[in-house]
Amino acid sequence: MIGFYIRLKSKFMLSKVKNPKLAKQGKLSYEWARSHMQILDNTIVRLKKSKPLKGITLGFCLHITKETSVLLIGAKELGANVACCGGNPLTTQDDIAAFLASQGIHTYCWAGQNAKEYDWCIEQVLNHKPQILTDDGSDMNVKAHFDKKYKALKIFGATEETTAGVNRIRAVEKQGKLRYPVISVNDAYTKHMFDNKYGTGQSTIDGYLRAMNLLLASKRIVVAGYGWVGKGVAANFRGMNAKVIVTEVDPIRALEAHMDGFDVMPMSQAAKIGEIFI
Ligand SMILES: NC(=O)c1ccc[n+]([C@@H]2O[C@H](COP(=O)([O-])OP(=O)(O)OC[C@H]3O[C@@H](n4cnc5c(N)ncnc54)[C@H](O)[C@@H]3O)[C@@H](O)[C@H]2O)c1
Repeated sequence: MIGFYIRLKSKFMLSKVKNPKLAKQGKLSYEWARSHMQILDNTIVRLKKSKPLKGITLGFCLHITKETSVLLIGAKELGANVACCGGNPLTTQDDIAAFLASQGIHTYCWAGQNAKEYDWCIEQVLNHKPQILTDDGSDMNVKAHFDKKYKALKIFGATEETTAGVNRIRAVEKQGKLRYPVISVNDAYTKHMFDNKYGTGQSTIDGYLRAMNLLLASKRIVVAGYGWVGKGVAANFRGMNAKVIVTEVDPIRALEAHMDGFDVMPMSQAAKIGEIFI
């Protein structure tokens, strides 16, 4: 692991990533992602001149991937001082982390870090005194609330992406301890539609192939739950010629799955004939 200072014009910026030499490779991935993220790209280009985020420090705790790198670079282009860490020790793309660090973004993450290192990285971001937090799972928001070291931080507000993270924030709110407003990205219709249905629908196929590398055609796939994610998963597996069975406790959704052409049955029955369970 390398903690290092990157020379950037006359400034020195601290980051900690696995291998700074991966920055070139990371740049290619970033450019590929940005060329496919036109709404974000257009927004950045439109606002770049006026630098609306000038003077603001943003703290991000996200999966550090080519897609999120577009958001982070965008925030920097709009004038923000940006610090980030990975929201999951397993998903960090080390080449992207190296690229972000090379662009003057304070970056603290590497793939495969342990729980202590993960925690340390979140603290490094908070040490930059961010005024707005963008979180994915609420580890950073919870630390900002309950770690005494960060009590004095003046945070205007935050966003939280996931179902689990929003539940944690709601629990803090219930205790009457919420220090700043948090926008629940997870409640946005477009989040459910893009991420849960289409995104997770596709990436579950990817996960299946990477983990098992087996033919999908004719496999009996059992999908538990026909909500946003279940609908996407079921549709994608059917598209690969798998035989999809749905289990669902909500009778209306069970009916919907039936009308969409899937076999619907209780898990006690599906368990006897299914080969793969999602
Ligand atoms: N890995 C990812 O990238 C990712 C992304 C989005 C959501 N998720 C997770 O996927 C899960 C589903 O999310 P969603 O947006 O589809 O939620 P949702 O609320 O839209 O759907 C969940 C469905 O499961 C059904 N259900 C609950 N208990 C059941 C049971 N015992 N048997 C059968 N069906 C049952 C519910 O009736 C509901 O229809 C959540 O845990 C969410 O956090 C993961």
